[in-house]
Amino acid sequence: MQRHNFSAGPCVLPQEVLQKASQAVLDYDNGLSLIEISHRSKSFVDIMEQARSLALELLGLEGKGYKALFLQGGASMQFLMVAQNMLEKRAAYLNTGTWSDKAIKEAKIFDDIIEVASSKNANYNYIPKGYEIPEDYDYFHCTSNNTIFGTQIKEFPNSPIPMVCDMSSDIFSRTLDFSKFDIIYAGAQKNMGPAGTTLVIVKEDVLGKVSRKIPSMLDYKVHIEKSSMFNTPPVFAVYTSMLTLQWLKDLGGIKAIEEENEKKARLIYSEIDLNPLFKGFAAKEDRSYMNATFTLTNDDLKETFDTMWKEAGINGLNGHRSVGGYRASMYNALSLDSVKVLVEVMSELESKA
Ligand SMILES: Cc1ncc(COP(=O)(O)O)c(C=O)c1O
Repeated sequence: MQRHNFSAGPCVLPQEVLQKASQAVLDYDNGLSLIEISHRSKSFVDIMEQARSLALELLGLEGKGYKALFLQGGASMQFLMVAQNMLEKRAAYLNTGTWSDKAIKEAKIFDDIIEVASSKNANYNYIPKGYEIPEDYDYFHCTSNNTIFGTQIKEFPNSPIPMVCDMSSDIFSRTLDFSKFDIIYAGAQKNMGPAGTTLVIVKEDVLGKVSRKIPSMLDYKVHIEKSSMFNTPPVFAVYTSMLTLQWLKDLGGIKAIEEENEKKARLIYSEIDLNPLFKGFAAKEDRSYMNATFTLTNDDLKETFDTMWKEAGINGLNGHRSVGGYRASMYNALSLDSVKVLVEVMSELESKA
């Protein structure tokens, strides 16, 4: 049966990437598996360099003072590393959901954090706007796409201080002026590869401004100096991420995938809006193009709907417990055809009800 993987992450990856990655596990270099060769071998050093340069190229950041790193510890480790490397006195955070909240919690360990705005009062179903970012803070942190709640920042502020962004669930999915950001980080397990590595893009000139001693493993400068090889990198996750970035480049880059992502989002949201059995969770103007969150208007239909989408080969549609209902995650590798299958099931439910 053909599967349609709407999982929020880890999630769908391009078939061709999965094939190449599995082949490399069996035989990458003359009978040797990718995961049994030294990370210091030329073969792997080339992979790491290619992954780093593809990331900067796709984001349009080559030659602009940025470095790309593939680190470990998940995006959650970046909540801590950002503060370690950037927080001298105080920092400003935008609170748009569970992940922003967790980033704030980690930074509070270090010092004084203010929330410039929060949508917690409405269970994070919208993106606050019109807030001010104070000039005398060390940095401003935001989350571009709120995976759990299905909201996405459409217009980023012009920050007077360095801007740090958690792009875990929408990196490489839409065109943006990425040079507005000083640090971007993203766990691989949505638009890049398997869990196990986190892409961190750092503008070098924002570093070196804090007085604290930073443990080596948490110090961006150390990782930059060691070309992202300070310790043994997660070779399989980096290789698979590199393959996905190459796949995206061959497709035509972010612009090309953005057009596909817009088609998918238009299709699902128009069904949610037109079908009286469903109701969208997020404020319309802030709807995420990656994670569409919605509920049934009549809970009595839950069992029937759940059976129908499972029978259609759909996977991973259950919503996160903090929202309930459903979440259709439509990352780069999910095809428009898969969204069509889901929309057909939704409209079939309407004709049955
Ligand atoms: C936006 C966002 N930030 C951070 C995280 C945490 O990532 P990790 O599990 O890699 O620490 C997630 C996980 O889903 C996420 O969606």
